[in-house]
Amino acid sequence: MSRTPDALLTAVGEGEVPARFAEPPDVDRAALRRARSDAIARIGENLDTFHDEFPGPSSDDLVYAPTDNRDGWTTSFWTGLCWLAYEVTGEARFREAAEAQLETFERRLESGDVETHDLGFLYTLSAVAGHRLTGTERYRSAALAAADLLVDRFWEAPGLIQAWGDHEAEEDTWNRGRMIVDTMMNLPLLFWASETTGDSTYASVAETHARTNAEHVVRADGSTFHTFKCDVETGAPIGGETAQGYDADSRWSRGQTWAIYGYALAADYTNERAYARLSARLANHYLSNVEADCVPRWDFDAPAEQDWRDSSAAAIAACGLDELARQLPLADRRAASYRNAALETLGSLAEHYTTEGLDSNGLLTEGAYDPTDGDYDECCIWGDYFYLEALVRATDQWDRYW
Ligand code: GLY
Repeated sequence: MSRTPDALLTAVGEGEVPARFAEPPDVDRAALRRARSDAIARIGENLDTFHDEFPGPSSDDLVYAPTDNRDGWTTSFWTGLCWLAYEVTGEARFREAAEAQLETFERRLESGDVETHDLGFLYTLSAVAGHRLTGTERYRSAALAAADLLVDRFWEAPGLIQAWGDHEAEEDTWNRGRMIVDTMMNLPLLFWASETTGDSTYASVAETHARTNAEHVVRADGSTFHTFKCDVETGAPIGGETAQGYDADSRWSRGQTWAIYGYALAADYTNERAYARLSARLANHYLSNVEADCVPRWDFDAPAEQDWRDSSAAAIAACGLDELARQLPLADRRAASYRNAALETLGSLAEHYTTEGLDSNGLLTEGAYDPTDGDYDECCIWGDYFYLEALVRATDQWDRYW
């Protein structure tokens, strides 16, 4: 493979961690433990409504309606919340709900509703987490079946996993050969699959995609495109576009956080320092543009009147920055700054962005799923998941599901 991670990094400016993150923030650990208990209490209240159904992807007036495990990419975040609640409390009711939901993930594999790169999100927080926590062999098999389907979406010539659509449909010209920044968080399923089977094919596909993403999706200033298309026959780059950001050249903040966390996890699985360095460059860009309270606008380049925040991006960042701090060498003094930034972000979410006291069945307010379609100022189920993951990271020793 000619494109080494280090070679890819030379094109990306280093940036700096803003000085404001040099000192530990004034965040009350007891308040974080209370926030964790509040979140788990809310999950417990929701267990009857969403036993083997799913909230989301986003709420309506802060209330999620139940959905089936069909279409979409978000069902596993509820299962992940149940697994986290089970791990923290040891209460069987959370495990029973997660296991009931897992049956729907097994059925989904059989139903063929699997034409998406989001198999990583879907089967990591359900089946991989379930296997890690219970050792149940059926969950490992389901996760491996999902990993095989994800590998099928890999295009050799450009070296990328196609994000959306039926990858065999030649007439689907928008989707064919299109990668998206979010896929960085779907790669852990493949790294895990190689680890558990000893077959390096999965990890090799994941690493190739991570490098292609670094080459085309990451821009020279450390920001990211949302999507980038390549010719699947020749591998030639075609260009960047957006689906959920403001425009093709803008900086969609949630995409940036998917990449920060995704490269930090790639560093952990591969022991390749370059991925941690790339995650740091992406983090520097993010932290230089985030609002004073550490919750970003949904797109850093959206016009002033579109000033909606995305708490879900902040929750992903809180986890990704914490993981990044763990992946940097001990001698790298930036690690403390990333840890401080993660904690300050989490403290801000817990103090100012929760649904406590509101008529809601979600956890975080001010998520922005698809603002240009009117979907903002709502709970987003992945934002809720990453919020609780960040709280668990900050208050406990935690072995990640990713
Ligand atoms: N992965 C889809 C999104 O972040 O909205």
